[in-house]
Amino acid sequence: MFENPMVAIDIGSTSIKVVELAGKQQRKLSRMGQFPIPPGSIVNGVIRDFHAVERALAGALRSAGGRRLLKRAAMSLGGSSVIVKRIRMSEGAMGVEDQVLAEAEQHFQMDVNDLYFDFQTFSQGMTSAEKIVLLVGAKKEIVDDRVAVLKSAGLKIGVMDCDVFALTNTVEQNYGLLPGLIAIINVGTTASQVIFLGNGQYLYTREIGLGGDHFTKAIADAMGISYEDAERAKQKDQRGESVLSPEIQKTIAGVNEQFVSDLQMTVDFFFQSGEAPIDQDRVKGIFLSGGGASSRKLAESIAQKLSVPVERVDPFKNILVPKRFSRQYLRWVGPSFSTVLGLGLRRFEDTRE
Ligand SMILES: Nc1ncnc2c1ncn2[C@@H]1O[C@H](COP(=O)(O)OP(=O)(O)OP(=O)(O)O)[C@@H](O)[C@H]1O
Ligand SMILES: [Mg+2]
Repeated sequence: MFENPMVAIDIGSTSIKVVELAGKQQRKLSRMGQFPIPPGSIVNGVIRDFHAVERALAGALRSAGGRRLLKRAAMSLGGSSVIVKRIRMSEGAMGVEDQVLAEAEQHFQMDVNDLYFDFQTFSQGMTSAEKIVLLVGAKKEIVDDRVAVLKSAGLKIGVMDCDVFALTNTVEQNYGLLPGLIAIINVGTTASQVIFLGNGQYLYTREIGLGGDHFTKAIADAMGISYEDAERAKQKDQRGESVLSPEIQKTIAGVNEQFVSDLQMTVDFFFQSGEAPIDQDRVKGIFLSGGGASSRKLAESIAQKLSVPVERVDPFKNILVPKRFSRQYLRWVGPSFSTVLGLGLRRFEDTRE
């Protein structure tokens, strides 16, 4: 039978991450790689410097151990480039496709000609006349640019996914299907996505305008050093190689406080929006993913203020990892590989040409 020959690629604004998994039942890590993207090359999901991103992809594939065998790619879209809506639809005179088109126009508030969109219907647990439709719209310009980058590396698109679904899959793979209301917060570079799941199913997502970048900038300002030096100091502190002064730790605590307050507003908004299931009145647990999940005391601040258990996602927790991969490296990069790992979980039968 086929071995899935797909390579998962996450084009983020700080780095490109690559993962390839093998194995049918128990998934096993076969390749991984990462390469930085020069700051400013991708802004709000838009590729500003195509060649820089092309070079980074070549670097990421090289660091994953060669590119010749890697042919088919799974990639995902995130941030403001994609809009995911969960809609309850009743069976009416209009077919689902017509209803979806009407809803898309209303929900996305954009000309649908500027969007690619797709949808999936679920009727599990619903009355026969009702369906849940997950509607996904993505800006054509952003999708086309990303496809062009992959093609320039000689890759074919096997799967096009969304960050929110990839992250949901990573959490399910490693922590099982969790009952009740759970949130995943993907702390990226300039923004973070808060994803709400009910009994493991996607419910709702909303963005917070804070990410790892804000910690770096706060350190740079407080210490009077360059952004690059502040980034190095931040990561050394996180690795325990050096410790930031109490004064800088206070500055970081201020960013954490702002983050927690934005998160609290997001949670309140979610409950007010009517998207929360009526039998769920509180978030029972939070998973932190993304590079920014490793920010000093962020997880602790959220846990303390929201009185909820918070865990940094270990995307390799339930993945077989051969000895040739450094455990320490996996621990360091851990949460930042959550999206690409979820993409890597997609299988051959999921692929569409
Ligand atoms: N060990 C660490 N400690 C603290 N912060 C870190 C660490 N590693 C990465 N970060 C921060 O995480 C951020 C990048 O996260 P991530 O790699 O998830 O982003 P991305 O996927 O490239 O970008 P985005 O998803 O926002 O487009 C940067 O701001 C970086 O400073
Ligand atoms: Mg990302």
